[in-house]
Amino acid sequence: MPKVDIRGRDFLRLSDFSAEEINSIIDLASEMKKEQRSWSLAGKTVIMLFFNSSLRTRTSFEIGTYQLGAHPVVLNVGQDSWDLEWKEGIVMNGDRPEHIKDAAKVLSRYGDVIAVRSFPKMQSYEEDRADPILSAFSRYSSTPLINLESAVEHPCQGLADLMTLREVFNGVTRRKKVVLTWAPHIKPLPLAVPHSFLMAAAMGGCNVVVAHPPKMDLEPELVEQAKQVARQAGGKVEVTHDQAAAFDGAEVIYAKSWLSREFYGRPKDEMAYRATLPSWTVTEEKMAATSRAKFMHCLPVRRNVVVDDSVLDGEDCVVYQQAENRLHAQKALLVKLLSE
Ligand code: CP
Repeated sequence: MPKVDIRGRDFLRLSDFSAEEINSIIDLASEMKKEQRSWSLAGKTVIMLFFNSSLRTRTSFEIGTYQLGAHPVVLNVGQDSWDLEWKEGIVMNGDRPEHIKDAAKVLSRYGDVIAVRSFPKMQSYEEDRADPILSAFSRYSSTPLINLESAVEHPCQGLADLMTLREVFNGVTRRKKVVLTWAPHIKPLPLAVPHSFLMAAAMGGCNVVVAHPPKMDLEPELVEQAKQVARQAGGKVEVTHDQAAAFDGAEVIYAKSWLSREFYGRPKDEMAYRATLPSWTVTEEKMAATSRAKFMHCLPVRRNVVVDDSVLDGEDCVVYQQAENRLHAQKALLVKLLSE
């Protein structure tokens, strides 16, 4: 039996797990990356449903499943499968011919795990915050459910991010100054990645600084939770609107654009507000004020909007290492959830 046992659980949010449990997944991922031991999930089936596009999540999960000897089934919802309804009690006379209630119950009888990507609709914050698609799968699936990025979190990205931090700091992440900086983009983007990174870095006991312009706050409940988790792990979380102060002495810069909850569902108003801001793009000049910080981003990234080419193509950029770690971290997660 694994030392830290998470078999059979849903993996929806990092905060559903203790720092010890998350770190135990990464311990195994690091072992797998060094190929110290081979693991087999032969005979298992992993069903993945994508409501939205993906490059890394889809390929790393599909290849990881194959490498473990299990069988991946990938469905692009609405293209390879029926489009799925999630509202309870709805009269289904619209465009969506099948309800998640039925799909989840059926797929649970075929697969050993179901994994779902479903981005927010970005119209109502309260609706998105309830993660309606993922919640419906969670309610009706009888197999473990993995969140492949939802409205609220991207926990698999968070696993890979913490694994990368551990590698960058040779295993000692405690009290390292790690900055999560908001960055510009051509449109408002979901909060899932910054939420999961914040929680991952907090679980690593980092001294996390979240830097963003006014009106761009992350979910306050999650920030409070991250503060507690960081304290327990020996670190802290601070929030600032001063990007230059945040970069001063930073050891990791994690750039990500995210939307404003104040302008939720009003992208034109949000973009008009953003046009009034000074530049938050990560540049070589800004990186020069850090303590030779490593640069992280979940990808995909808009070059010369979020971050300059010279940073992304520079030797302190670890985004490809970070992307590779998706593969190892998710394989470890599957083994932890499904091993007998
Ligand atoms: N980082 C990430 O989840 O990438 P994809 O959207 O390409 O899967």
